[in-house]
Amino acid sequence: MNILVTGGSGYIGSHTVVELQNAGHNVVVVDNLSNSNEKSLKRVAEITGKNVDFYEIDIRDFNALDSIVGKYHFDCCIHFAGLKAVGESVQKPLEYYDNNVCGTVNLLKVLQKHNCKNIIFSSSACVYGDPKIIPISEDCPKGNCTNPYGQTKSMIEDIMIDLQKSDSNWNIVLLRYFNPIGAHSSGKIGENPNGIPNNLMPYITQVAVGKREKLNVFGNDYDTVDGTGVRDYIHVVDLARGHVCALQAIEKKCGLEIFNLGTGHGYSVLEVVHAFETANDLKIPYVIQPRRTGDVAVCYSDASKAEKVLNWRAEFDLQDMCRDSWNWQKNNPNGYDD
Ligand code: NAD
Ligand code: UD1
Repeated sequence: MNILVTGGSGYIGSHTVVELQNAGHNVVVVDNLSNSNEKSLKRVAEITGKNVDFYEIDIRDFNALDSIVGKYHFDCCIHFAGLKAVGESVQKPLEYYDNNVCGTVNLLKVLQKHNCKNIIFSSSACVYGDPKIIPISEDCPKGNCTNPYGQTKSMIEDIMIDLQKSDSNWNIVLLRYFNPIGAHSSGKIGENPNGIPNNLMPYITQVAVGKREKLNVFGNDYDTVDGTGVRDYIHVVDLARGHVCALQAIEKKCGLEIFNLGTGHGYSVLEVVHAFETANDLKIPYVIQPRRTGDVAVCYSDASKAEKVLNWRAEFDLQDMCRDSWNWQKNNPNGYDD
């Protein structure tokens, strides 16, 4: 298939481009590089042996997108482009609504104009809010997102659902990711956060590489195995392959489908720390801090729908994720800036 990938030079996008190319698809990437580096796509080409057509474009720019979508006959769009820092979204809500929501509406208008009515969207488990039932299946009602970032995901889902209702020619897959970590086994591509990492694994790898002194563990008084928060960590390569599988649903003209992409297992913060230490024979110093505002105690998926319908299942375990995260970080202590 000919596939337009928005946000394709970012963390999940670059890993997905590798899997798409490996599966024989033709890929065109648009990205405004606001949170990524074009070098990631050069590294992708080193991995796959295939170049990636890249356009530095903002998805809010109708004319620029229009000219690209008019030039290629895309069978499907995989839409990763968006801002994703929860804390920043609280400080700059208008930027987040404009970039994520208005950007997506613009993208949908361009796709509609060129009759490319197939799209896969990067949603998030955060749309479930504080989940009432664990493990979380796709039937769980959406909850209150405590921040503008999460609101944009929920709003975009609603916009896409309305669009599909209005025109059944649209095939739309909403993928709700749990917690992606890890990196490609080559160590050539990986997560490259700007500044102090917000998320657990990049913080751990920066402690391991000597950039940060110790990990702050946010809360040890939750009702969990050891009191620390529990999440469903998924290897980014498994997640990327989930997108390749989701194309099958698009090909079968699925209408609107929602899938969780997770492993179905929850691990606490301290279990992740210890798994990282064991996998890499390193010590991660940490201190217990108060809970982080907005965090839930436990969040992990029931991922059986994706297995049943898409024949997709996560293959990598926590040790693999820890090994590959560290392999990327130690080979690229400054990300793509070397
Ligand atoms: P990322 O920041 O590495 O990738 C997003 C990419 O989108 C970046 O390359 C950025 O430059 C680009 N971008 C942002 N705004 C754009 C715009 N207006 N026009 C063009 N390009 C633009 O993030 P990621 O972790 O790879 O996440 C990809 C998608 O998955 C995002 O939509 C994110 O919200 C979603 N998601 C991520 C996680 C996670 O933990 N990483 C979890 C759930 C959902
Ligand atoms: C965060 C986002 C969520 C987003 C998800 C995927 C918040 C509040 N939520 O979720 O919207 O969809 O990432 O990227 O930011 N932790 C520490 N110390 C740290 C960092 C994290 O103890 O330095 C703990 C957290 O309290 C949590 C767990 O590690 O229990 C995972 O945190 P994180 O990686 O930030 O992911 P989420 O909170 O699940």
